[in-house]
Amino acid sequence: MKSNINLQIVETADGSKTIFNALVGENYHSKHGALQESRHVFVNSGLDYFLEKSGSNLNGNSVSVLEVGFGTGLNFLLSADYCSEKQISLDYCGIEAHPLTADIITQTGYDQYVAPSIWNGFLNCYVESFLAPAGVNDMCKLRIADSPLLEFQSDKQYDLIYFDAFAAAYQPEMWNETAIGHTIQFLKPGGVFVTYAITGNLKRAVKALGCSVEKAKGAPGKREMLRAVKLV
Ligand SMILES: C[S@@+](CC[C@H](N)C(=O)[O-])C[C@H]1O[C@@H](n2cnc3c(N)ncnc32)[C@H](O)[C@@H]1O
Repeated sequence: MKSNINLQIVETADGSKTIFNALVGENYHSKHGALQESRHVFVNSGLDYFLEKSGSNLNGNSVSVLEVGFGTGLNFLLSADYCSEKQISLDYCGIEAHPLTADIITQTGYDQYVAPSIWNGFLNCYVESFLAPAGVNDMCKLRIADSPLLEFQSDKQYDLIYFDAFAAAYQPEMWNETAIGHTIQFLKPGGVFVTYAITGNLKRAVKALGCSVEKAKGAPGKREMLRAVKLV
């Protein structure tokens, strides 16, 4: 796990915390609000959109999510809280090349945004989740793959992909056709891909991979974000 030497907890505009990575020169979340961004982009525009779209066709009242760039786990925590409230089973896999220590995750204060059982279950199973899928509570299972995106392999496909890499200005290799193609192969037909950014190259790459692409309203500080649905 990553030592905390280049990492610093900082506050964002909505009062929620994020981590600044001095090696990359970038925050883990938007400076306009970590919590707002995570709720808007991934929970409301991704998870909630998928569940609404699926309606009564939701398979076994369960949903599966693959996240690229697991980081602090904020997107997982909010999704687990949302699914537990709605009594929907969540099968979540996060890909993370540089896992954080549980110690720095504890310093984010994200416990205040989710039910205590979700937060405690997450911290209790954090280390175990790198070895095998671990039960956070009776509704949510978490696995974290300690792997760079391009080395991640799975025979599973997911209902949703949360693409939460550092911005292309800092990590362009996460946004090229190879990285996006490697990611989209793990999306089920009818599945939804969301990310906080949108560019012409990203739209073209996602379309070429058989997805319909939509410009959705962005989180505070961004006009638009990308949402795509896999057609085949
Ligand atoms: C913008 S931050 C993600 C924030 C995270 N979703 C959260 O809520 O804390 C980007 C994350 O991608 C991870 N990362 C960087 N390069 C990666 C790679 N090649 N494969 C997978 N993850 C990578 C970083 O370590 C970091 O945790």
